[in-house]
Amino acid sequence: MKVLVVGSGAREHALVWKCVQSELVERVYCAPGNGGTGGMARNIPIGAADVVRLVQFAKHEKLGLIVLGPEAAVDAGVGDALRDAGFPVFGPSRAAGRIESSKSFAKSVMERAGIPTAAFEVFTQPAPAKKWTRERDGRVAVKADGLARGKGVIVCGSVEESDAAIDAMLVEQRFGRSGATIVVEERLDGPELSVLAVTDGADVIALAPARDYKRAHEGDEGANTGGMGAYSPPAGVDDALIKEVVDCVMRPAVRQMQADGHEFRGVLYAGLMLTKDGIRTLEFNARFGDPEAQVVLPRLQSDFVALALAAARGEIASHPDLRWNPQACVGVVVASGNYPDDAAMKLGQRIRGLVEMPPGVLVFHAGTRYEPGVGLVTDGGRVVTSVALGDTVAQARETALAGARQVRFEGAFFRSDIAGEAV
Ligand code: AMP
Ligand code: GLY
Repeated sequence: MKVLVVGSGAREHALVWKCVQSELVERVYCAPGNGGTGGMARNIPIGAADVVRLVQFAKHEKLGLIVLGPEAAVDAGVGDALRDAGFPVFGPSRAAGRIESSKSFAKSVMERAGIPTAAFEVFTQPAPAKKWTRERDGRVAVKADGLARGKGVIVCGSVEESDAAIDAMLVEQRFGRSGATIVVEERLDGPELSVLAVTDGADVIALAPARDYKRAHEGDEGANTGGMGAYSPPAGVDDALIKEVVDCVMRPAVRQMQADGHEFRGVLYAGLMLTKDGIRTLEFNARFGDPEAQVVLPRLQSDFVALALAAARGEIASHPDLRWNPQACVGVVVASGNYPDDAAMKLGQRIRGLVEMPPGVLVFHAGTRYEPGVGLVTDGGRVVTSVALGDTVAQARETALAGARQVRFEGAFFRSDIAGEAV
């Protein structure tokens, strides 16, 4: 069958890489793809949110499966249009995707399904929001309701900070319409954990857990990014904890969505905090995480296309248990100078070193493109993820870092402390 992966990040490169290995697949396309996906699949110059042309392409190629990568595709209704046209889609409808695209919607699902989360309130006016945060001495997280590319959360430690965060969203409208409604919640403490599960709307299968590193710089300093690295399995996470997350977070969320008439098919991603009072859910995403996908998919030994088809068709209950490589996997993102400050990044830099990768390094491309006559150049904030498997986290980390060091372009930087806690 022919498979289309929608998107252009390193997550989509990892998905393409995994789909190509499936015995069910004769050809893989990626729309629009990047400089890396073009090497192992056919890139199609259609944007990830271009609903009309994606449906035309699916009909023309008689696609057997479409995998949605980014939230922009979900939110544009790509899944709805393709499903209406009769295609199996691994990815939720726009309505189900609101679990990511509206934090207040996600909170209402959590509240009704009894999912443990931080105490919260939804505001559109600054004065009542500030009153609520004063009662908590400003120890809150202020969140833009809508999509903000992972950057719409401001964690505050004082009333000055929370006032400024509320004003930035509700008064200065720094997040545009996404921040016209805000969710303010109590600030929690503890290590974070991402759990991803495949669901067909009724049943769930948990994927291997991962931990990602959201801050731009070493030691968790600097701005929040889409993610600077990840590793799997994370230290201190055992099967019992995953089972608790599936039973108390994943399955209740999926069942609540189904009861509400917004059946969710695809990957449901829970961002969790392990507080001293137990698990708390910070957010849901309606798709694979990036860079989590880059460290989870290499550990998956089962056929991903068979799994995605089962989810798309509502057949997860009869899908065999997933097989996992017991090795650890570490992914280190190499980013453009000044990332995540889009305005200050200098793109179009010639990338060198990718052909001399140490053995065992998988390079998943994100912001790369082929410039005719020049070669591979940078085309985004996160440029590549250097990924490696290893018998121990330490080995995987050493190889992934060696790969990251090989990637050379003006302004390149990466975090050398990814997975450091586990070694
Ligand atoms: P979110 O997009 O909701 O996952 O938030 C992004 C990041 O902000 C999370 O990964 C946490 O590091 C942090 N964060 C979100 N909510 C809270 C909270 N209630 N308390 C402390 N930190 C939070
Ligand atoms: N790594 C976080 C995300 O994909 O949202």
